[in-house]
Amino acid sequence: MCGIVGYIGKAQAAPILLDGLAKLEYRGYDSAGISIFDSENIQTVKTKGKIKDLRELTHDGADLAGTVGIGHTRWATHGEPSDANSHPHVNASETIAVVHNGIIENYLELKKRLLAKGYIFQSETDTEVVTLLLDYYFDGDLLKTLSKVMSRIEGSYALGIINKDNPDEIIAVKKDSPLIVGLSEDGNYIASDIPAVLKHTRKIYILEDGEIVKLTRDNVTVYNQDLDVVEKEVTEIQWDVSAAEKGGYQHFMMKEIHEQPKAVRDTIFPRIKEDDVFIHELRMTDEQIKDLKKVFIIACGSAYHAGVTGKYVIEELSRIPVEVDLASEFRYRNPILEDNTLAIIISQSGETADTLAAMREAKRHGVRTLAIVNVVGSSIAREADDVLYTWAGPEIAVATTKGYTSQLSALYLLALHFGKIREKISRSDYLEMIQELKSLPDKIEKMLQDKEKIQYLANQYIGLKDVFFLGRGIDYASALEASLKLKEISYVHSEAYAAGELKHGTISLIEDGTLVVALVTQEQLYGKIVSNIVEVKTRGAFVLAVTNEDNKDIEKNTDYVFYIPKTNKNFTGLMATIPMQLFAYYVAVAKGCDVDQPRNLAKSVTVE
Ligand code: F6R
Repeated sequence: MCGIVGYIGKAQAAPILLDGLAKLEYRGYDSAGISIFDSENIQTVKTKGKIKDLRELTHDGADLAGTVGIGHTRWATHGEPSDANSHPHVNASETIAVVHNGIIENYLELKKRLLAKGYIFQSETDTEVVTLLLDYYFDGDLLKTLSKVMSRIEGSYALGIINKDNPDEIIAVKKDSPLIVGLSEDGNYIASDIPAVLKHTRKIYILEDGEIVKLTRDNVTVYNQDLDVVEKEVTEIQWDVSAAEKGGYQHFMMKEIHEQPKAVRDTIFPRIKEDDVFIHELRMTDEQIKDLKKVFIIACGSAYHAGVTGKYVIEELSRIPVEVDLASEFRYRNPILEDNTLAIIISQSGETADTLAAMREAKRHGVRTLAIVNVVGSSIAREADDVLYTWAGPEIAVATTKGYTSQLSALYLLALHFGKIREKISRSDYLEMIQELKSLPDKIEKMLQDKEKIQYLANQYIGLKDVFFLGRGIDYASALEASLKLKEISYVHSEAYAAGELKHGTISLIEDGTLVVALVTQEQLYGKIVSNIVEVKTRGAFVLAVTNEDNKDIEKNTDYVFYIPKTNKNFTGLMATIPMQLFAYYVAVAKGCDVDQPRNLAKSVTVE
């Protein structure tokens, strides 16, 4: 994980780096640091804590004069969060400073060799071996030295390096960790993600694995590992700086919750033309779709939960068997992958290490891959056979909201498309569902206007210890997501259960006052879940139901009801998720939690 930045240009580097790091803080936030070349020496300031602590330490960067520098915000992997383990890592003579995102897998072996040569380590990190190897091989030419070091290190890395003997350049390299280069008249930038440079430029290079880049004040050259020059195409970023700002909301999460009507609209509408789903990015022929024997959906975390919903909807509408796998399991479980199988890979960031590895595993077996990804140009998007972008815009809060609902939207489109081509849906149902898809953004909008009802309820539950989320069918998938959302940002323990499973053990945990949230959107299963609600109420539970607006009957058996607008039974997952996101948000805010940056987490999990 971690975020790295670098700047070389005409302006003072430190404030630019601090600003860029603040935009990358979602990638990790347990320590931070910067190194600036001050025309004589490399000055480094680093600390355990957040960017605001680094800002205080450096007086907003004013203490560090210089127009070239690198910076880092950390999510600890090797070595606890501490000042010593923070980046940049600098050699003993303070001539080389390195920031790193990724993991050097053979660092122990390299460390042993460096120790034998008399090197002393200041930290417990894997990154320090890179600094000391650069020191060991350094022959005056940083570019050549780096190319040599690359052939010694294994693992994933985006590295930013400055060197006192080459004071007018930054060298950076990428392998299996994201890195972009920002190009502008006033200077050049490196960063782990686009929001870090967007204030300064919209022109970027997206680096490929193995590419090395040399930045000077007025030039950027990209090389391959043999140091041949590589011609790169400039990507123009279309979205606005404001997309990565809070825009008046207290937290990014609340802003992103409110951006869902737009994210869902932007994902769905361009793919519906004249009442037909039209997915031009999917290059599968109708024959290939008809011949599909199996779909695997592979993802992690919330994206996996979107996949669980996708299983219900794709199976229902297109009658293709779907298996949903956690990427970290799929990649090591030797799955049976036969002909006419499609692997749908879901990832907001497009960089999740397990998901990327699982996709590569599927491809290695000759399985066609279709990625549902939000971040344009990310690794998963680049490597998949086909990409269906979710147009949610940058998602900054660590807990996904609009990323998730736009993934659901993309899955709904796919299910309808497959169902139509395989002739498993009647024309009238198909048309009705297209109309429903188009109405989803307005229905989300309507629920957001009712958010105070959820806030009221959440405020009653500040002392909450355990929550159970129950659902059947699609509601079970929504329960999984509702539970993850609550626990990750509010630190309240919760569990999601397929409602019929509760009495196979877990019901023993229900006692007087335990909060049970019942998701009740599948009309054909109303009776079944009401029985489960009665079972927990009998044992003292307080039951909150989230149900369709016409299901007033539920009030007889529950304590509090939140009504969602009625939609087609296949699309209720998207509706039921909105109040659950709000519930998690308000509980976390009421408890004083760090909503956008929950402890121990990072937005983009680029380590396995
Ligand atoms: C939870 C959350 C995570 C991500 C997971 C996968 O709110 O955001 O569970 O869904 O880390 O990330 P992506 O979608 O970037 O692959």
